[in-house]
Amino acid sequence: MADTHPDPLQRPLPDAIVPAEVVARTEKRWLGVMVAMLIVMMAVVVLTGMTHAISPPSNVETIDPTTLHLGGEFAESNLGTAQERDGSLTVRLIAGQFGFAPDCTKVAVDTPVKFRLTSTDVIHGFLLPSTNVNTMVVPGFVAEVRTRFTRPGIYRMPCNEFCGAGHHGMWARVSVVPKDQFQSLAPTERSSCVQQ
Ligand code: CUA
Repeated sequence: MADTHPDPLQRPLPDAIVPAEVVARTEKRWLGVMVAMLIVMMAVVVLTGMTHAISPPSNVETIDPTTLHLGGEFAESNLGTAQERDGSLTVRLIAGQFGFAPDCTKVAVDTPVKFRLTSTDVIHGFLLPSTNVNTMVVPGFVAEVRTRFTRPGIYRMPCNEFCGAGHHGMWARVSVVPKDQFQSLAPTERSSCVQQ
């Protein structure tokens, strides 16, 4: 007659009621699963960041968007592809409603490429499909993304941040050519493929 024990805690539980120890054990197990999932997800973020260079753009560098055309890094004569002393390439672009300037840039395959962009007006987006390049271009800031193209070809770059009535037409190209087709540039020389 255990269910008539004078101490209610000693009576057997009705069917379908789980004892407190079992509940505590199950909760601890789920806590373990949750912590393990958090660790795995953090590891995925850190490892992809390190091995695939996938990371949020964190280049907090400011610039006055109203004087870009007057001089400095984003003056017209400095836009396009530049070659650094170490052979790497720097591509400077301006995004504005509704186009990129220059709208075609040429780089070499298997070469470190650094894109530096800024906006004259509103927020635009810069995305190169099948690469790690995907950044917002915010007026007042310089966005910087580094990549290395492993395959030659034409990479179309859509603006992927809604920026107004002409957003859907805001496209440009990056032409990635084999190394022997890329002409070396003098330190002050800038190139693009706009005329092609
Ligand atoms: Cu620029 Cu959308």
